[in-house]
Amino acid sequence: MYTQKLSPQIIEDVIAFNWDVTPSVVGNKTLKALSGAIKKLAQALSEAVDNIIDEGGNLAEIFVKNSKTSGRFDIFIRDNGAGLNLNKIQNMFKIGSSSSSKGHNTMGWKGVGIKAAAHATSEKFWVIGREKGGELVSAFMDFTINVDNWADKQFSNVFSGEDVYNNTPRELLELIPSEKDFVGCIQMFNNIKKRMVQRNPDVTSVVKKLLQCKSSTSRNSLSYIYREILNKEIKITVNGQHLISSGHGHESTPDGKPLSHRYFRNQHPDGERVYTLIGPDGLSWDITVFYTLSFKFDEKNAQITKVTSTLNQGEIHLLRNGKEVTTCKIPIPSYGNNYAIGELHVDVHMSPKFIDEHSELASNKTLESLSAIGPDDYNFGKILVDLLRRDLDFAIQFNRVNFLSSSNDARSKKTHHPEFIYRDRYYEFLRENYLEEGTDEVELKNIVIKEDSNGIYGTRNDLTDNGKIVEIKVQADQNSIGQCLNYMTQRKTRECRLISIACPKNLEKFEKFLKESEDHYNVKIDFVNVSNRKKNRFLHSEMMQELTPEEHLALKKFKNKKK
Ligand SMILES: Nc1ncnc2c1ncn2[C@@H]1O[C@H](COP(=O)(O)OP(=O)(O)OP(=O)(O)O)[C@@H](O)[C@H]1O
Ligand SMILES: [Mg+2]
Repeated sequence: MYTQKLSPQIIEDVIAFNWDVTPSVVGNKTLKALSGAIKKLAQALSEAVDNIIDEGGNLAEIFVKNSKTSGRFDIFIRDNGAGLNLNKIQNMFKIGSSSSSKGHNTMGWKGVGIKAAAHATSEKFWVIGREKGGELVSAFMDFTINVDNWADKQFSNVFSGEDVYNNTPRELLELIPSEKDFVGCIQMFNNIKKRMVQRNPDVTSVVKKLLQCKSSTSRNSLSYIYREILNKEIKITVNGQHLISSGHGHESTPDGKPLSHRYFRNQHPDGERVYTLIGPDGLSWDITVFYTLSFKFDEKNAQITKVTSTLNQGEIHLLRNGKEVTTCKIPIPSYGNNYAIGELHVDVHMSPKFIDEHSELASNKTLESLSAIGPDDYNFGKILVDLLRRDLDFAIQFNRVNFLSSSNDARSKKTHHPEFIYRDRYYEFLRENYLEEGTDEVELKNIVIKEDSNGIYGTRNDLTDNGKIVEIKVQADQNSIGQCLNYMTQRKTRECRLISIACPKNLEKFEKFLKESEDHYNVKIDFVNVSNRKKNRFLHSEMMQELTPEEHLALKKFKNKKK
């Protein structure tokens, strides 16, 4: 018999081994609850890739094949990591079980990643592996069986020795490259769930999707998640094709010109910046940050655009041990209508300990929860942006000088929006008044503020005049009052000023609604009707200065649209 070849120690281990997948560490949290966070195939596969890196492997070979047990797909992942023995394979199935060596310096450590990934994506999960000098072991878990008893062997079981060959699916055994020297692990995600793949999928389309680079609509690609370590620490292939890094800093034109700019290279070869962040715990955490501007490439006319004409494209990304862990976009706030920001990407490499201690979710490790950490007044997003502010300003200034051409100049764009025309005029009007009163320029910067915003996700109001919110409308209506109420709620103030250049339609009705709103909400909306020449003589003449032909056109277009 096969077992006769085993050493006495291994036989003893096998006899003594008691397969047990009962959830222990996380108590009543079920597999379902854990896997809910995994929405995309790439997210699930990234759990497997993380584990391979932790096992010292540097190759993850993914195979997509038609399933033998359904009309769907199977996905296999073969690695060259440290491989498996009975105890380690148990870790792969038991919720909360992890290698004792895992911690902040490994990709995973919570003991839930692969179970969640398997449950989220497949009907059945199989694993086979072998460690150096050890024997083959395999195990499975069947998620289609609704078990009362976690010890039910139909639901999950483990095999070793000869039993491996008798019980493990053929297609998995066939992937073992050479039985004698094979060290590593092969995982099989059997019958991939429909919601994990696109409609009418076939092997080719699934492979293509897995190899996909980051696109403007999808950040969930392996190629992007691992961009900083892909092909340095880990190689990934899908049906034999190599996965390459994508996203900012990794793209180039077909003839090899880089499609990005890395700032601060004059100070550090990689443009690295280091800051100290004060955590919610009051401790200092070093963070390393890279600033990259993504260029746009138009394949049709081979043109490169360095600063986009879309507003507010800047983004912050958080990385833990070189892997992107942000599943949501973190916008760079307060740069509202600033074209010079372009597609500025800020890669923030955080201390893993900080993330591990303050981020709640285990499987997709999303950092949304970081915004809500610490004492009530600890706003992670704001603290981070404040810390980066000087360098962000530098990058934007650099773009303005080096990358903005006259055709996409910020100012020419602004004048094409009628509200900007009047905002700028009102801004000048206020400034002149203050200067006449003897306020100096430096002070004035904090008194009259254009495009003001509060907090990280706050909206921007047109102007702030000595602490008072100012909203400017070409022609105010009841919606404008709603907008004012909104600003006041956000800014926790009960006062604001609403300026209407043209007289609101049906002034009487408008003023009645204004009064009712003020009474109802106990607020004061200081309404300024610029069209009333008698009441607002100076303002009127300032605002009604002749329009340039472009401004005139913009206003006409705007009015037509309103009609
Ligand atoms: N490819 C593999 N090769 C060898 N052992 C593995 C492999 N994948 C997983 N394991 C073992 O299974 C354990 C559980 O993996 P799992 O992904 O569930 O948790 P984790 O990586 O420890 O933590 P996290 O939940 O943070 O990912 C690992 O700690 C490791 O011991
Ligand atoms: Mg893991």
